[in-house]
Amino acid sequence: MLENGKLYIGTSRNPDDSLNKPEYLELKFGNRHGIVTGATGTGKTVTLQVLAESFSNAGVPVFCADIKGDLSGIAAIGEAKDWVSKRAEQIGFNDFAFQEFPVIFWDLYGEKGHRVRTTIAEMGPLLLSRLMDASEAQEGVLNIAFKIADQGGLPLMDLKDLQALLNYMGEHATELSNQFGLISKSSVGSLQRGLLVLEQQGAEHFFGEPALKISDIMRTTNDGRGAISVLAADKLMMNPRLYATFLLWLLSELFEELPEVGDPDKPKLVFFFDEAHLLFNDAPKVLTERVEQVVRLIRSKGVGVYFVTQNPLDVPETILAQLGNRVQHALRAYTPREQKAVKTAADTFRPNPAFDCATAITTLGTGEALVSTLQDKGIPSMVERTLVRPPSGRVGPLSDGERQAVINVSPVAGLYDKDLDRESAYEILTERARKAAEAEAAKRATEEQASQGASDDSAAGRWTLPGFGNDGEDEAPRSTSKNGNGGTRRSSGYQRETVIEAAMKSAARSVATSVGRALVRGILGSLRR
Ligand SMILES: Nc1ncnc2c1ncn2[C@@H]1O[C@H](COP(=O)(O)OP(=O)(O)OP(=O)(O)O)[C@@H](O)[C@H]1O
Ligand SMILES: [Mg+2]
Repeated sequence: MLENGKLYIGTSRNPDDSLNKPEYLELKFGNRHGIVTGATGTGKTVTLQVLAESFSNAGVPVFCADIKGDLSGIAAIGEAKDWVSKRAEQIGFNDFAFQEFPVIFWDLYGEKGHRVRTTIAEMGPLLLSRLMDASEAQEGVLNIAFKIADQGGLPLMDLKDLQALLNYMGEHATELSNQFGLISKSSVGSLQRGLLVLEQQGAEHFFGEPALKISDIMRTTNDGRGAISVLAADKLMMNPRLYATFLLWLLSELFEELPEVGDPDKPKLVFFFDEAHLLFNDAPKVLTERVEQVVRLIRSKGVGVYFVTQNPLDVPETILAQLGNRVQHALRAYTPREQKAVKTAADTFRPNPAFDCATAITTLGTGEALVSTLQDKGIPSMVERTLVRPPSGRVGPLSDGERQAVINVSPVAGLYDKDLDRESAYEILTERARKAAEAEAAKRATEEQASQGASDDSAAGRWTLPGFGNDGEDEAPRSTSKNGNGGTRRSSGYQRETVIEAAMKSAARSVATSVGRALVRGILGSLRR
């Protein structure tokens, strides 16, 4: 049943329950996306595991989130559990063999896997607004913050960088508003509070360096198998917004960084989006549209995206329409909403005259699903009632010791374990504030000397330092002589700006050397390299 270029999903049955034929997912259509749906306990995670294992064996790297910890077993060799052997026998799966898979564990908190980080700059204002559930006004301020940072070369790496920039914006709201657009102090304040909340939720672990290199989730083993990156998501799920934003960020990174490959023989990477409803739950329309766009375009970069969710209604129709490979486990149909879901799910399949799709969906057994995949020329196959094959890896969690052993020998061991805190916005702005304070102190000292000088008529009293804002009353005649209308105000404003500009220029140099990339933002607002 195992054939080259095809992933064996399971075997379908005729209306009289006799075996019909093996059902495959064609590797060459693996980048045409897919969906796995079904009510609780109907076999979604096992199906996900089966797909992930098969992609890996075919040399395709996989990324998936482990919501309940029950996917981690994929790193260990399978066990002859009752239902596993029974299912293999039931479908006459003679090539069946147990196997362990090359897994890389990841964890935003660094507890159950290698640390995954990104920088604030790379995440961008759109996703960050989503993460912070920002109002429109707050999003406006966040956009300005990124503009100031991007243009002025203030690297935003971690939460404290953004916090420092927001402080700075609050303090200089008036001048910056002239240049960048209205910065309301109350929105700045709400964003600052929002950042504190994020910090309390542990998001600070996620922002910083070294940021995840996507090549590290696209590894293959020497014997040609695709690495399966498993993201520990049990703790992360307590902050569903962070979970969803993280996955979106990763998707957008893949999209921005990978080259066009058209339609390859097999995908470059397959990305499973478990609990996909979290992506779209009260997501602003613009975000959903961008996600739709990314999903549509990422196909030609060889990335297959597979959504896993209980209810097909969770996925917006425009996206649902793009998902070529479908596995529908059983749904209940008690409430009107459930009945609607069954109808929607049934309507998305190419019908099979042998049975009624909607009825089948409500009567499927555990580990059984309606399956339709793209076949020759990308046409969906007629839907079939399919008994899903058993996985070859273990089903269920690894022990802590087993997990640690996998982490220790991982190809990315040591690469992400330590935080790196380079000079970025926080340090630059702190330094700038220190200089400003020094200048202020110097100014006061000069003023004191000047007032002393006036009385004792010493030489120092006749000289003032230019350009540090001490162009008060005694400077007025000079300014007015340049241009008559309010020259004093303007000149002090101008001078303050040059101080800011100078600092920004030096920061820009440090970005150019330390980050080394042009600041261009992609569809989901993340940085392009
Ligand atoms: N292909 C299969 N063949 C036989 N039994 C299966 C199969 N898939 C799942 N089962 C049985 O159903 C149980 C639950 O499966 P699974 O954990 O995949 O469900 P789920 O839909 O992910 O549930 P949840 O929504 O709670 O996460 C398995 O432990 C196994 O006993
Ligand atoms: Mg599950």
